Amino acid sequence: MSRKIWVFDTTLRDGEQVPGAKLNLYEKVEIAQQLKKLGVDIIEAGFPASSQGDFDAVQAVAQKVGNTSDIMITALARAVQADIDSVYNAVKYAENPMIHMVLGTSDIHVEKKFNKSRDQILQIGVNAVKYAKSLLPEVQYSTEDASRSEFEYLWKTIEAVMKAGATMINVPDTVGFAEPEEFGAMIYKLNDRMKNLNPNVLLSVHCHNDLGMATANTLAAVKNGADKVECTINGIGERAGNAALEEVVMALKTRNAVYNVNTRINTKEIINTSRLVSSFMGLDVQVNKAITGDNAFAHSSGIHQDGLLKSRDAYEIVHPEDVGLDDMELILTARSGRHAVKNALENLGFAQLAPKDFEGIFEGFLALADAKKEVYDHDLYVIVENYYEQHEKANVTNYSDHFFEFEDLQVVSNSSFPSASVKIRKGGKVFMSSAVGSGPIDALYSAIADITKINVKLVEYDISSVSRGKDALGKVKITIEHEGETYIAKAADTDILKASALAYMNAINSVIVTSLKEAPVQPAAVNS
Ligand code: KIV
Ligand code: ZN
Repeated sequence: MSRKIWVFDTTLRDGEQVPGAKLNLYEKVEIAQQLKKLGVDIIEAGFPASSQGDFDAVQAVAQKVGNTSDIMITALARAVQADIDSVYNAVKYAENPMIHMVLGTSDIHVEKKFNKSRDQILQIGVNAVKYAKSLLPEVQYSTEDASRSEFEYLWKTIEAVMKAGATMINVPDTVGFAEPEEFGAMIYKLNDRMKNLNPNVLLSVHCHNDLGMATANTLAAVKNGADKVECTINGIGERAGNAALEEVVMALKTRNAVYNVNTRINTKEIINTSRLVSSFMGLDVQVNKAITGDNAFAHSSGIHQDGLLKSRDAYEIVHPEDVGLDDMELILTARSGRHAVKNALENLGFAQLAPKDFEGIFEGFLALADAKKEVYDHDLYVIVENYYEQHEKANVTNYSDHFFEFEDLQVVSNSSFPSASVKIRKGGKVFMSSAVGSGPIDALYSAIADITKINVKLVEYDISSVSRGKDALGKVKITIEHEGETYIAKAADTDILKASALAYMNAINSVIVTSLKEAPVQPAAVNS
């Protein structure tokens, strides 16, 4: 029978330890609400003894998110009374509060960090658990640096704190030192002894990613009896981060025949959660990151695109819809083959192209793709039009009349009057406009919007560097909303303001593509 795996999310505690990722109270509560929607079993909301701000935020999460019985709220304490009091006072408002405490078990921690004997540390842990139990029924004990601890001392500690009343035992691979087979074997032995002592106590793991094995170690632990996994969204966390929730959960689901376990996670909320965490914490998700990276469901090789169009399972083991994305993405680049380009043209309404015409259009596509990183749908319209013009077909439809083309810009950035002027071309005409804004990008986008007259809401603006040094390419990704639809567009340039304008232009042109698809301009009556 399929076993339940508890999912403990520590994005708001271990994840928040990432330098610069500090959240305010409002942001913490928003993310916690989303984690609840995602279906995690336990939220670790912070480390309340660290600051008054964190105490208040944990308390707000307990009150506003922990107000139902389907979720447990916890926070971290060292094994000292003041920390435990702090956690208790912050989480006690939740329907299901828990105290989580941590104390090292490796000799490095016992001797070098605490300068104490093993017996002294064990006793401190037992006393701390007894104290926490006097406050709340649910207490988790984390044996910090467990993977580098001497096994029999680790077990002696676990046995003692279980007898003192701990209800969950968390075995952390604090420095990401563990190796899956070895870690799995350790968990197997611990699980065997723990279940003999008290089968109601949950065995948990918390793996760090210093050697890139956090997910593998977590999965090895599940295979060997762990009841609970500690993870973060997008794998953020101390140093190289923690096991990524989305990777662990999707591996358990996709390879269910191997693991035979289930979680309560609503996987369709994964992308929403990932994007919320990334934007609030200001931490970009690596583009090729499993499950939540921009390219995780984007296919660009011609061979793969051809295979996918024949049968999706050729190159797709997780359906993008299962994690909350609309569809797979076939990115048109110089590597795309005929099949993908034909498919894109058909989606735009060019379904009846004669083979000779398609070959001519494909040539135009390759020429543009060589010059440009990515070919958008609006580029395809222009390629078709150019092809018909060059081949002197009658009644050519002027698709390019519909699209905006960036020409030039000037932006003034200062604290009093950030302003921008832009020059944009559409259908052979040049338009110019100027605007002021709350900042240079706001001014730039207001000037462009004044010309395009397409009412869009800017949902997200993201800027990052593609390379290093003073000639670095800046990459801008924007998300806009138009009539309930979301459009994402990108552009790169050494001039970041130009990249911002180009990204906006690409997004606006995508809106126009949608309206053209809805009310197609009939392709020209071609006299071949
Ligand atoms: O990595 C670690 O050991 C921790 C503990 C607090 C669980 O984060
Ligand atoms: Zn950790």
